[in-house]
Amino acid sequence: MSQVAGKTSAIWLAKTFQISKEGKMGLNVIIGTQWGDEGKGRIVDMLSSDASIVARYNGGDNAGHTVNVGNQTFKLHLIPSGIVHPHTLGLLGSGMVINPLALLDEIASLQQLGVDISPRRLIISPGAHLITPAHRLLDKAQDESRGKDAIGTTMRGIGPAYVDKAARRGLRTSDILDADVFAAKVTAHFEDVSRTLRLLYNRPGLEVKDMAEEYVTKTLALAPYIHDITLLLRESLAKGETILAEGAQGVLLDLDHGTYPFVTSSSTSAHGVFSGLGIGVQSVSKVIGVTKAFQTRVGSGPFPTELSGSMAERLRGSGSNPWDEFGTTTGRPRRVGWLDGVLLRYAVAINGITELCVTKLDILSGLKDINVCNFYYVKGEKHSYPPDGLEASKMALYEPLYEVLPGWEEDISRMHTWDELPLNAQKYIQRIEEISGIPVTYISVGPEREQTIKR
Ligand code: IMP
Repeated sequence: MSQVAGKTSAIWLAKTFQISKEGKMGLNVIIGTQWGDEGKGRIVDMLSSDASIVARYNGGDNAGHTVNVGNQTFKLHLIPSGIVHPHTLGLLGSGMVINPLALLDEIASLQQLGVDISPRRLIISPGAHLITPAHRLLDKAQDESRGKDAIGTTMRGIGPAYVDKAARRGLRTSDILDADVFAAKVTAHFEDVSRTLRLLYNRPGLEVKDMAEEYVTKTLALAPYIHDITLLLRESLAKGETILAEGAQGVLLDLDHGTYPFVTSSSTSAHGVFSGLGIGVQSVSKVIGVTKAFQTRVGSGPFPTELSGSMAERLRGSGSNPWDEFGTTTGRPRRVGWLDGVLLRYAVAINGITELCVTKLDILSGLKDINVCNFYYVKGEKHSYPPDGLEASKMALYEPLYEVLPGWEEDISRMHTWDELPLNAQKYIQRIEEISGIPVTYISVGPEREQTIKR
């Protein structure tokens, strides 16, 4: 590791800036443009062949990224998808909330599949926050208490862990490094949640001593993985390497910019990268938006282009294939609908997206007509951009206006080039480019790594 201090820092800053300006190397951010589940994992996996570092910057094990390589399927919730490539270094940034028990399970299952996971290949920022079993119980109690207004969270304790972070009483991964201090903090945290569960939610309290002991004992195993990542990132950029920042969930679930309050508790947009990794804005070369060829959502909240009935069933699939529209993390059936071009424009605008990857185009094969929403009708007027933001109460007033594009009959799942695609499939992609104003650079036509068309 080279030194990046004092007098050398001006040089690497200049170098980093130049690299970013050229748009070749540097930091490439990969985000979902919808409500998550766009297929970011397979795009990150594909782009990882040229990257030295793949970093997660937000969320926790509410995410579920699937990577299929040959006959092996890797299911990742916390570890960046790029780890499947032996040359990459995986980073978990300070913007994340990490359930150490889930992370240890994930490490073990990846090791069983032959992936080398060691402190040499995986580094956890000391600023990341920890999720405990108490956070998960609180998440369940809170969402159930919302009744008909429930968010439908993944029950992974994400919200309560971020609440503790903002309230400045959170447990951070750096706490693990002093076992005694950690044990005391964990016990105080369990006691606190136990009281809240009993007094506020009328639920049984916790077996604090046993739970805290078990949690601390297991979590200490992560100590060798904890190390500052900010210097590493800067050095990597200065060397002209490529770094991928792997977003979890999607822009429409962003705490600030999503369909509030039906959102997750982190910054799922490109903006989350800067605080979630500790890196400067000038480092970003590309912002790659991943968008499904249609729209899906898990959990409650507005969804203007939502479908029901036989078309919904057709797009969702029966659940017999792993790529059908059922949650990777929770197994819940996803809500499905037509592509929402107005929300895509919004995602492009607020993130500065530079290119798009369209996934699951093959699912639309065989449809006679395909609808795309290009405008909202609101109080008698047509809008190409959400006129009053995405807050759920405002979204309720947005009525989608569709244009109908002709479908195609051919099975496209074994096609490898743009020219092979049926004309109407090409026209569909071109229409997405016109609506978003952004070029589509990759199109996925099946779950395997090689079922991807590069334009
Ligand atoms: P939470 O992140 O568990 O608090 O859940 C908040 C909302 O985000 C719920 O509607 C979840 O279904 C949704 N959500 C969280 N993570 C994901 C994801 O990875 N994919 C899709 N939806 C998600």
